[in-house]
Amino acid sequence: MDIGSIKAQIDSEIGSISSPEALEELRVKYLGRRGLIAQLTGSIPNMPQVERAAFGQEVNALKNKITFLIDEKQKGITGKPAKPLLSSVDIGLPGISQEVGHLHPITKVTNEICAIFSQMGFAIVEGPEVETEYNNFTGLNIPLEHPSRDVFDTFYLKSGVQNSQLQTPNSKLLLRSHTSPVQIRVMKSRKPPLAVVVPGRVYRPDAVDASHSFMFHQIEGFVVDENIKFSDLKGTLEVIAKSVFGNKIKMRFRPHFFPFTEPSAEVDISCIICQGKGCSVCGQKGWLEILGSGMIHPRVFKNVGYKSGRYTGFAFGMGVERIAMLKYGIDDIRLFFENDLRFLKQF
Ligand code: DAH
Repeated sequence: MDIGSIKAQIDSEIGSISSPEALEELRVKYLGRRGLIAQLTGSIPNMPQVERAAFGQEVNALKNKITFLIDEKQKGITGKPAKPLLSSVDIGLPGISQEVGHLHPITKVTNEICAIFSQMGFAIVEGPEVETEYNNFTGLNIPLEHPSRDVFDTFYLKSGVQNSQLQTPNSKLLLRSHTSPVQIRVMKSRKPPLAVVVPGRVYRPDAVDASHSFMFHQIEGFVVDENIKFSDLKGTLEVIAKSVFGNKIKMRFRPHFFPFTEPSAEVDISCIICQGKGCSVCGQKGWLEILGSGMIHPRVFKNVGYKSGRYTGFAFGMGVERIAMLKYGIDDIRLFFENDLRFLKQF
């Protein structure tokens, strides 16, 4: 049957239809899998090449016309539009998915480390990023003119900035350069025994490069009670280092100077890349520095008003970016703050 006669036939047949069943029969006759339209489409491959396109277009137009006539009839019979044909919906197409975000790698590492401390009975405390000069320096035994202040130098706020909670008569305000000032805050407001970890953001006027940023994150920790010993510090840090980097790592304590601890030590772990043999990541040393630590200086206890000689304690501070870089093999600190999804999606 040719296109013209099919057109004429549907026009005459559709008029006499009055029941949904008859309409369905008509639909199958014209649009079904073996219907008249399908027969026309099936004949295309046998046609001469030049006629195919024009013929195909005509068949399509006819198909649309028949679909329209049947839909209209359906509305006339039932008062409802025809159900869309399942075959016109590609159920194999992927759906429209909603992109779900996740925590930043720095937040993840911070949470992971804090969770381990939590299990050991430490309380998690946060302090303000805008600090007093006293808490950031003087209270921690870093005197005004002492060269050790250079290491922790920071950004000062204009004296006009007021905050009733922070402003003390003789203390300027600054962006804290470490999380250690929270030691002063906690010790001033609570009595030992204390076991506290302090995650948070810190600031230094460092030029930005692959290993420096003017803003980064630290986790501070400290324990104060009667009879706290250096061995308590060692045991605690070993649990943390092994939980984060795996049971196989070794640790070493190197003597160091921090004004707020005495004795002080920097803590290294055996290089996780070369297992201590020496490689470019550890600068051929076999060791990676992960934190600073020590026994809290008696002058710090004096500054917070603890009775002389009554308590001892240990403290430590680690850089979260450094730990995350070592853990995930990241070689540039700037990647954490560029918000490039290609980087962030990997965690
Ligand atoms: N506050 C030091 C820094 O920012 C890190 C530190 C070292 C913290 C030794 C401590 C400590 O509590 O005992 O570099």
